[in-house]
Amino acid sequence: MEARTYHTPVLLQEVLFYLLTARNGFYVDGTLGGGGHAEAILRQLESSGKLMGIDLDDDALAAAGKQLARDSDRVLLVKENFRNIKFVLSQNGVMSVQGILLDLGVSSFQLDEPAKGFSFQADEPLDMRMDRRQELDARHIVNRYDEQALVDLLWTYGEEKHSRRIAKAIVRQRAEEPIETTGALAVLIERTVGKQFLNKSLARVFQAIRIEVNNEMENLRQALSDCVDVLQPGGRLVVISYHSLEDRMVKYAFRAASALSIPSGNKIIPDTPLKPVLKMLTRKPVTASEREREINPRSRSAKLRAAEKV
Ligand SMILES: C[S@@+](CC[C@H](N)C(=O)[O-])C[C@H]1O[C@@H](n2cnc3c(N)ncnc32)[C@H](O)[C@@H]1O
Repeated sequence: MEARTYHTPVLLQEVLFYLLTARNGFYVDGTLGGGGHAEAILRQLESSGKLMGIDLDDDALAAAGKQLARDSDRVLLVKENFRNIKFVLSQNGVMSVQGILLDLGVSSFQLDEPAKGFSFQADEPLDMRMDRRQELDARHIVNRYDEQALVDLLWTYGEEKHSRRIAKAIVRQRAEEPIETTGALAVLIERTVGKQFLNKSLARVFQAIRIEVNNEMENLRQALSDCVDVLQPGGRLVVISYHSLEDRMVKYAFRAASALSIPSGNKIIPDTPLKPVLKMLTRKPVTASEREREINPRSRSAKLRAAEKV
């Protein structure tokens, strides 16, 4: 029972409401995970409606493949980075789509999975790669980045106020022996910040390292621009983010694409006139109801924004 509620797709009804505009359309779930959202989307489509599911994680693709087995004739699963959505679609002969969902970050499935090293609640090798083909992992960052790079990383991606002290402690500790596990890093953070704000610091430090390992901000920046390009007029982009950096990036990207001009910031050079390419559907981010927050802890930090291609 516990595991079932834990894996419930976040903001499911809201996703369906904002995303679906044609029951026979072609949709992309760019963050397939366990396939929860994808399955619900397929349930709403007619038999001519299709879905492409993208994920970087082999285990997610395998789990979603099972979950969506009965719809396999209208589903295409692809191991790719969603930032390459244009390329993936064109490789499969699809020029434009009716809707795209990005439910960012890691899945509860990945947090639960031993040996991925995403969670500070277990003692695992420091890894955090969604895509096992890439070389950069958390172990490299923790043991090789210089102190200033660590400070910048923890501050920028974690907004961690103890970033200087934690970076110094990491550099001191690894001079004695490499920091190999999530448990060793968690103990070091506890020793540095004390017990009072420990959980918040742990969450922020692990989030910062994960974002760096997986190049998450750059992936999102690229994807937001390319998703808009591949949407059909009237098609929708729905993004669920879980921390303020992501939400800010989505907000500004949507704002820029729905503005009438780009200000040059210069009295001599005029603003660049542009036609808006998006219409924002959510002025403020949509958040989970009290009921959903109670049964699905992951939904508590979720913010959904949606926009429509003009
Ligand atoms: C929050 S989970 C999605 C859960 C999913 N909506 C469901 O209903 O089960 C995010 C998923 O996106 C994947 N992911 C994150 N960044 C990605 C990227 N740049 N390209 C492709 N997949 C990515 C992760 O591997 C993870 O499986």
